[in-house]
Amino acid sequence: MSVPFIQLGAVNNAVLEEFCEDLKQLFESSHYIHGPAVQRFEEQFARYCGSRFGIGVNSGTDALLLSMAAMDVGPGDEVICPAFTYGRCGDVVARLGATPIFADVRADSYCLDPDLAMASIGSRTKAIVAVHLFGQACEIDRLVTIARTYSVSILEDMRHATGARLGNRRLGSFGRFGCFSFYPTRPLGGIGDGGMITTHEEAAAEKLRQLRDHGRSATDGSHVLIGYNSRLDALQAMLLQRKLQELDENNLERVENARLYTRLFKESPVTTPVFRDDLSHVYNMYTVLAPDREKLIEHLNAKGIGHKVYYPAPLHLHPAFRYLDYKEGAFPVSEDLARRAISLPIAPGLKKHHIEEVASTVLEFYGVTTG
Ligand SMILES: Cc1ncc(COP(=O)(O)O)c(C=O)c1O
Repeated sequence: MSVPFIQLGAVNNAVLEEFCEDLKQLFESSHYIHGPAVQRFEEQFARYCGSRFGIGVNSGTDALLLSMAAMDVGPGDEVICPAFTYGRCGDVVARLGATPIFADVRADSYCLDPDLAMASIGSRTKAIVAVHLFGQACEIDRLVTIARTYSVSILEDMRHATGARLGNRRLGSFGRFGCFSFYPTRPLGGIGDGGMITTHEEAAAEKLRQLRDHGRSATDGSHVLIGYNSRLDALQAMLLQRKLQELDENNLERVENARLYTRLFKESPVTTPVFRDDLSHVYNMYTVLAPDREKLIEHLNAKGIGHKVYYPAPLHLHPAFRYLDYKEGAFPVSEDLARRAISLPIAPGLKKHHIEEVASTVLEFYGVTTG
């Protein structure tokens, strides 16, 4: 039996009927960009996250870019980013003329190591990007404390972790800005690109609304800032508003799938991610560390089992960041994860037998017999 890595049908079909009704209304309304549907979703999403304001933008990358622009990150500034994450984290910093400073991650959570982030703070540091990687809450409490001590800002990169919490509080409400992506495969995914910034600050929210709309003032339409065209479509907002009702349940399904994998891999050479059932990990990816990864990939391909290697190279070794002059060996944990990490199918809608099939195919590769 083959098991796909990406499986969006189940969660999207669950809201298809209502969404088609919404679409009919949207066609009639002519409010395709901005408009009441986007505003309603912004308010609902901000409430869900425990933030005062939500500002829809057109991608997770732009959520990071506009948040940094709102803080006036620019030439001479430094922004600390984990070395093991998606390239966008570093290149939005560079695009604003500032310098990304990479710091290593922790081997257990794959998230930014707060001690190493703190050691990287200097007089030019403006912000730290706290990435909740693969859906796992990073040590956001400690990072917030460190940021306060050194008067720098925290941006939470929420791309993988929409709906995750720490205690009673949703991630994305801890930092100065929460930067969300609605890329289709994310915990809350649209049918195209989309993103959102959450914040508690009224003045910043107003500036972000101007930045995403060509720097225009909502009151008189004059250009008060050099801005961007980064708006959320009403079509995405309508679908996302429907899907938000299902998000907690979908995330719990991911947690259940992770629980099963973790049990099945117990006596195996595979290192499983930290297991948490309190929604502080929503398992957008179930990422294991696998010895002999390239051979395992050949085996999975031959058996029709989906998989994906997220981040085959850490950021400091990407050609785009060569100008920063980091050397191989600079961030040993990130380099090791880039060599060994592989993500397995986990999307809601996958059944117990799918997860068992994936696990037994992996175990077969390592010669582990299952009972
Ligand atoms: C951790 C992380 N942050 C941000 C992004 C960018 O999000 P988007 O594709 O919505 O621009 C990505 C993209 O994969 C990512 O993995």
